[in-house]
Amino acid sequence: MTSASEPTLKATAKPHGFVTRGIHWISILLIGYGYLKGLDNVDQLADPALWQFEVVFASGMGLFFLFRLFWTQMVAGATRLPQAAPKWEHAASRTVHYGLYGSVFTIVGSGLAIAFAYRSAVLGDWFINATIAIHEAALAVLPVLIATHVAGALWHKVIRRDGVLESMTGKFPI
Ligand code: HEM
Ligand code: HEM
Repeated sequence: MTSASEPTLKATAKPHGFVTRGIHWISILLIGYGYLKGLDNVDQLADPALWQFEVVFASGMGLFFLFRLFWTQMVAGATRLPQAAPKWEHAASRTVHYGLYGSVFTIVGSGLAIAFAYRSAVLGDWFINATIAIHEAALAVLPVLIATHVAGALWHKVIRRDGVLESMTGKFPI
């Protein structure tokens, strides 16, 4: 039995719907692929087919995450964290979720800026160098946020046992 002083120890989180879950796991594949295929240097963009592929991939990823943001914020609900969870958990979860979106949009936006600057007669090397610096900074921040996010999910599984991890994965045998 759970005592009144342990309100969050019950498996209370309502499951996310299949659309939110599908989007969540597909976006992990997209991010993983993006990291595997990352360019080594800007001169690879001289190949028109690669330039086009990069632009299509980045635009697709950006639109996918925009749809995701719309879907979770406006339609299906963004978090299953129980209302009774401590304030710091609500703040941490919101900060990391927005940080994840922010890093992805920065990677996509800076990538597209690099691509268009590379073909521009007006924008100079300084612009390409600045956008590459932004691209690389966001690429360094995203894995840190993902690790924090996964640690948070495990915290809810092992310490809180409130069903938040299962809201995205479905039930585990344990
Ligand atoms: C129009 C789209 C994009 C363009 C033109 C672009 C361009 C570049 C360039 C020029 C570099 C090399 C930077 C350097 O000189 O060190 C780079 C690195 C990289 N990009 Fe992109 N990028 C795009 C989109 C993306 C997307 C959507 C991802 C998704 C995760 C991504 C992931 C990476 C990775 C992992 C690296 C390697 C970073 C490193 O080794 O430090 N890029 N990109
Ligand atoms: C194995 C890795 C991952 C696990 C175990 C995991 C787990 C979860 C769980 C349990 C939730 C529900 C949290 C809640 O309802 O408050 C969630 C939501 C979320 N996850 Fe993950 N996640 C993983 C990877 C990622 C990655 C790579 C991203 C990168 C974008 C991400 C972005 C999000 C976002 C933004 C939400 C909030 C709901 C939304 O807007 O879609 N997750 N995740």
